[in-house]
Amino acid sequence: MSVFKGLVCIITGASSGIGRELAYTWASQGASLVLAARNEKRLTDIAKECKARGGQAHVVLTDVAEQEACKHLVEETIRTFGRLDILVNNAGISMYALFDELDDLSAMDKIMKINFYGSMYCTFYALPHLKASKGRIVGISSLTGKTGVPTRSVYAASKHAMAGFFDSLRLEMRDHGVSVTMIYPGFVQSEVRSRAIGTDGQSLGSSTAQEEKAMTAEACAQIISKATAHRKREVVMTARAKLGLWMKLIAPALVDFMAAKAIKTGK
Ligand SMILES: NC(=O)c1ccc[n+]([C@@H]2O[C@H](COP(=O)([O-])OP(=O)(O)OC[C@H]3O[C@@H](n4cnc5c(N)ncnc54)[C@H](OP(=O)(O)O)[C@@H]3O)[C@@H](O)[C@H]2O)c1
Repeated sequence: MSVFKGLVCIITGASSGIGRELAYTWASQGASLVLAARNEKRLTDIAKECKARGGQAHVVLTDVAEQEACKHLVEETIRTFGRLDILVNNAGISMYALFDELDDLSAMDKIMKINFYGSMYCTFYALPHLKASKGRIVGISSLTGKTGVPTRSVYAASKHAMAGFFDSLRLEMRDHGVSVTMIYPGFVQSEVRSRAIGTDGQSLGSSTAQEEKAMTAEACAQIISKATAHRKREVVMTARAKLGLWMKLIAPALVDFMAAKAIKTGK
């Protein structure tokens, strides 16, 4: 029997990409899903598909940059399903701009608000319920949460912030039976790069990477699901990144070179 059968799971950023595929993965295993994001039409369609795959699904329109909305998300989950077992902090936006070429900083505030503060807000309100269920927290970071790369400065900062926050929380939650799993994906097929913020503060509208060479969101969701089931501490997704982390200890400049090349070639 699946670990996820009957578990109540909030997934933020469930309207697209990795979040959507994770919802489908867990719906197929009989989970009860709370789908959070801002695009109502997409979420409603995804909820329908989750139900068709054997799960339960409830949509809660949520802008994770708003603390009150995150509180409402958790309250609505408890009102609907009576408990909470898993919180996946997945909602995120990226950037594609050199820091010294930005027109202004307003969009950069947005990146921190969504990626870091949004994760912190949702976790704060979810924690009492996760302690009661001895539940699981999952944070979707990025390889830029392990090492900085050009064109992603503030995005990398937001993902490093997530790592510092959740690594600390893992220790605080140890005696409460709540696990914290951090996920560090590489390139995954999704809308994250076409929606990334450019120098003018607007979405790029198209991807700068070789999307066809990226991991599928479905494969990524399978890895996240397995790590969550096993309450793993963290997953660094690509072999190149795993090697890079070791090399960073002895030859950090070489890792800088590898990271910059990956961004330049888009794979
Ligand atoms: N794809 C990759 O290569 C990759 C690599 C490393 C890390 N990641 C991380 O993986 C996570 C998922 O991204 P993805 O690749 O699946 O990208 P995506 O297809 O662009 O999905 C991003 C999701 O975040 C939601 N979102 C954005 N702003 C939000 C807000 N203010 N409030 C609530 N939800 C919001 C979007 O929904 P709405 O617009 O409907 O709100 C969407 O559902 C992100 O944290 C991203 O940084 C992705």
